[in-house]
Amino acid sequence: MKIKNLHDLFVQELRDTYHAEKQLVKALPKMAKAATSDDLRTAFEDHLEETKNHVTRIEDVFGEIDQKATAKTCEAMKGLVTEGSEMIEETEEEARDAGLIAAAQKVEHYEIASYGCLVTWAKELGHENAANLLQETLDEEKAADEKLNSLALQSSNAEAR
Ligand SMILES: [Fe+2]
Repeated sequence: MKIKNLHDLFVQELRDTYHAEKQLVKALPKMAKAATSDDLRTAFEDHLEETKNHVTRIEDVFGEIDQKATAKTCEAMKGLVTEGSEMIEETEEEARDAGLIAAAQKVEHYEIASYGCLVTWAKELGHENAANLLQETLDEEKAADEKLNSLALQSSNAEAR
């Protein structure tokens, strides 16, 4: 079925993001396990808990707009998750965390773009509650990205010592 209007587009993007979050719930434990520093492992574990919450929050958003929560395969996240697994396989311990941080930041940036659009469209469509829920997740994705930034800095400083 063709996307006819902003409402359809919003629902479609919501389904895509729902699937993306579900994929991440499966991928993050593997990334946590592969991390060599305790700080990075903890960051992934913390974000896993947030991500589980993002899944249920999207279900709440579907509820807000009287739609059944259904997922549509997110090919982009599939690719990003595959690249994350490759990073784990292809790196020796010395480069592991830097590689994991890069892979995770690509994921966060993708999610930030998705939630940014969803918030804007929810507002345009007059779904204030949905917009607020999506904004909460957007803020958490941005915070996760910031956290990865500071961990990247920490590890490159340690490297330089
Ligand atoms: Fe998320």
